[in-house]
Formats: sequence, C-alpha cells, structure tokens
Amino acid sequence: MDLEIRNLTHRYDDLDVLRDVTLTIPSGQIVCIVGPSGCGKSTLLRLLGGLEQPTQGEILEVGAPPKGSLNPLTYIFQDFALLPWRTVSGNISLVLEGHQLGKSEIQGRISDVLARTRLSDFAGVYPRQLSGGMKQRVAIARALAVDPAVLLMDEPLSALDSQTRELLMDDLVSLWERERFTACYITHNLNEAVRLGHRVVVLSRRPGEIREIVDIDTPLSERSADSAHLGRIQTQLWEMMREEALTADRQLNDA
Ligand SMILES: Nc1ncnc2c1ncn2[C@@H]1O[C@H](COP(=O)(O)OP(=O)(O)OP(=O)(O)O)[C@@H](O)[C@H]1O
Ligand SMILES: [Mg+2]
Repeated sequence: MDLEIRNLTHRYDDLDVLRDVTLTIPSGQIVCIVGPSGCGKSTLLRLLGGLEQPTQGEILEVGAPPKGSLNPLTYIFQDFALLPWRTVSGNISLVLEGHQLGKSEIQGRISDVLARTRLSDFAGVYPRQLSGGMKQRVAIARALAVDPAVLLMDEPLSALDSQTRELLMDDLVSLWERERFTACYITHNLNEAVRLGHRVVVLSRRPGEIREIVDIDTPLSERSADSAHLGRIQTQLWEMMREEALTADRQLNDA
C-alpha cells in the first residue's frame, strides 16, 4: 500500500506548522523526513497516523494493506513505550488484544514476530531486564505484530547511544531486506537518513514545506558507515538544512 500525501497544510490556532506538503511513500520503501527542530515533522506523522486531522489537504491509502493487517498505520515511538509490568510477550500481546482474535492466533502472531525479529529467547523477560537497544527491538516487534502497511517512526533511535544506534540500524536494514516493509521515518540524524532512506525528504523551517527530495539508489545492504558516496549526500543534505536550522533556532512559537 502506498501512502499519498496531497497538499497537506496544518495550523494550530495561529501557528502555521506545515504548508502544502505533497509526497508519496511508496510501498516497500523507507522514506526519511529530516528538517529543523519544530518544523512540523512529528505533526506530519500524527496526521499520517490519523491522530489529528489536517487543516487542509488529504492523505490517501492507495492499494490494499498486507493480508491480516490489524492496523495499517502503526507507530514506533522514541521512548519505546513498553509497559514495565508486562513481559516482552505481554507487551506484544497488548496490541493484539483489542482485535477479537482467538488465544491461539494471538500466541501465533507473538511467536511469529519474535522469530522474525530474532527475539524468541526473550519472550518471558521484563523491560527492566533489557538494554535500551533491546527495548526498541521489542517496540519494533510489537509494531510488526499487527502487520502494518506503513510503519510510522518518530526518531526511533534518538534515545540510544551511538553504538547501539549503529546496531539497530543494521537490524533495521536486515529486517527490511527480509520483509521489505514500508516506513515513514523521522530523524534529526542525517547519517541515519542516508543509511536507511530510499528517499530523504528535507523540510524547511516552520511552516514545514518540502525543500528537497533526494532519492538514494545504493541498496541498503551496501551502505556502510564510511561510504564516501553517502558522505557526500549527507554533506549536501546538511548544507540544505543548515540555513533552515539556523533561522529556525531563532524562531519563537508566537512570532
Ligand atoms: N498540539 C499542539 N498544539 C499547539 N502547537 C503545537 C502542538 N503540537 C505541536 N505544536 C507546535 O507545532 C510546531 C511543530 O511541532 P512538531 O512537534 O511537529 O515539530 P518537530 O519538527 O517534530 O520538532 P522536533 O524536531 O523538535 O521534534 C512546534 O512549534 C510546536 O510547538
Ligand atoms: Mg518531533
């Protein structure tokens, strides 16, 4: 299923947050969105997830979601959002419980997703027993358990140290190689954007407008931390963002 965003504009009272954003998130691709702080990235994701209604414009789901999908548009949060009193299995079960599935289907989906994300050995463990990286792996497994059409990821790695972030990026790449999931991935980190994005969208300072869309052809599995080609793209992206970020830094909410 593709997600088509057409002429999306959003305003909170007098605050213009997003302006005329038109963008496709094609099935099977990771689209990274970068832009200065406060430019409307999280707002865009909330609009995509239907948590808020846009002031203008529309979001179209084109094509069918995956078979068995319980929630076509599923979030992964920066802070993992795991319940401490539930085990890994229990946390995954939580997103399945509201869907009138039988016990055995819930159990089947849990073991399936744990296997897909290589977490089968951790089913009975509590979040406090896990590192930050492992918690985010569980949050990713939980999101996949509903067979989403599009994963909505808001800075999913930003709470992690840089080594763990590297490991999780490798994880996401191999998961994508296996499953070809579709994602809208918000990040501040341009290195993440060039490692994970098939397409990188640069938003301007608020009100966020599309400043540039950069398609990166290098297959995800061939992208390494020290690639000169990716380094050049990252520099280009930074040059685009620098001016926006400098001005945004001086912008007040009520200005
Ligand atoms: N519910 C709301 N009501 C009023 N203003 C809001 C609301 N949510 C966000 N804003 C404002 O809208 C603007 C965009 O916020 P948003 O969180 O989308 O930015 P962002 O690009 O995700 O920022 P960051 O990079 O810091 O995460 C900000 O100025 C913010 O203060
Ligand atoms: Mg944000």
